[in-house]
Amino acid sequence: MPRAYIKTYGCQMNVYDSDRMAETLAAAGYIMTDTPEAADTIILNTCHIREKAAEKIYSELGRLKPLKARNADLVVGVAGCVAQAEGAEMPARAPLVDLVFGPQTYHDLPAMLSAARAKRKNQVHTDFTAAEKFAALDATPRPAAPRADAFVTVQEGCDKFCTFCVVPYTRGGEISRTGDAIYAEVETLAKHGTRAITLLGQNVNAWHDGTTGLAGLLARLATIDGIARLRFTTSHPCDMDDALINAFGDNEKLVPYLHLPVQSGSDKVLAAMNRGYTAAEYLEQVERLRAVRPDLALSSDFIVGFPGETQADFDATMSLVETLDFAQAFSFKYSPRPGTPAAARDDPIDDATAAERLAHLQAVLTRQQHAFNKAQIGRTLPVLFDFPHKNKKRGLHGRSPYMQAVHVASETPEALGGQILPVVITEAGTHGLTGRLEDGLHRAQSTSIVGG
Ligand code: 5AD
Ligand code: SF4
Repeated sequence: MPRAYIKTYGCQMNVYDSDRMAETLAAAGYIMTDTPEAADTIILNTCHIREKAAEKIYSELGRLKPLKARNADLVVGVAGCVAQAEGAEMPARAPLVDLVFGPQTYHDLPAMLSAARAKRKNQVHTDFTAAEKFAALDATPRPAAPRADAFVTVQEGCDKFCTFCVVPYTRGGEISRTGDAIYAEVETLAKHGTRAITLLGQNVNAWHDGTTGLAGLLARLATIDGIARLRFTTSHPCDMDDALINAFGDNEKLVPYLHLPVQSGSDKVLAAMNRGYTAAEYLEQVERLRAVRPDLALSSDFIVGFPGETQADFDATMSLVETLDFAQAFSFKYSPRPGTPAAARDDPIDDATAAERLAHLQAVLTRQQHAFNKAQIGRTLPVLFDFPHKNKKRGLHGRSPYMQAVHVASETPEALGGQILPVVITEAGTHGLTGRLEDGLHRAQSTSIVGG
């Protein structure tokens, strides 16, 4: 039987895509391996969004050379956004690559691999056919292995064209899956024990099916038995319509957590990034969200060192951060992506200044995250527990409604996977919480469900 190994880089959409590739391969008779050495098919599922993504992939391919030298039948495929961006250049630069395929072609993987194995080498499949891909996704059965918290792609691509971003070029224009297909997938997941669903899309709140938008889809999914928690990522502030904001008050299954990238607090930089809002508009939107959901945990993305960013621009970002208080955030040094408008600018920020600004921003964001976590000590939170992995050390791992990782000591983690149970929070670090099950629960192994 053929044996495949998939290495995943980057975002949750890539994690989801890799899972679906593994399912498609399993359906075609492949066994998945834990190491590249044990495989006769190696797939790198790549990400192009920041830093020297393509260079990293070329060095990883360099490390695979000895395996290829030992096994002439080894098939090496490169998937994802670097594959989409590099196309035919990839096998030209790294001849051990047999197959290059973009994010819209994964459903054809078994056939593409067979063709590559039949020595019709250096195959490149980077056409945009997202509709076809979605149709194929809808036909693939979900795995039997239960997952408490699962991702479901509902939308791909982006029409926003932020001047720093490569996504509109690598993932193409916005396209939505049908509400019926998404509903069916979530229903199947719920039957397999899934309790929480994260809807994924590059610009997820642009999802629509002609009549309803994302708020309508969330309301529909909330009717599915067994599903206790819903969330969605990643949102663009301009597409947060009233219905979606109000959903944080109306839809009881929508968790009080929102990842809403702001990127900068300077209006000049926001305009140069083509973000479509000002800092004041972003602040106002957060105020409206907090009016309907006062305990909302706010998460964001930031870019520092965008071309032309002055000290005053950076100060404006810091002041927005101090005003809003983030529960979590991701911050990055600007990195020029070839082919994007910002990459052509002639006023780059020197690396030392950008690094200094990033360190400053990250120190404040880390302090805020720690403070948010510490504020949970003494509270009792409903925690959704993962199904424990075999061979992992004792203990229960789960998530609070604010998406914090929660660890609970337990001798019987198998009994509690997939359940939502009240946990008294006793300790808090920057990256997670520790707690104990409310008295009696660990002895009774209660099956009660206390909601999300
Ligand atoms: N440089 C740095 N960060 C970037 N991001 C996207 N493109 C770039 C880039 N060229 C960041 C943004 C985005 C997140 C997914 O990655 O903050 O929200
Ligand atoms: Fe990229 Fe997000 Fe802007 Fe779309 S909205 S171009 S994915 S940063």
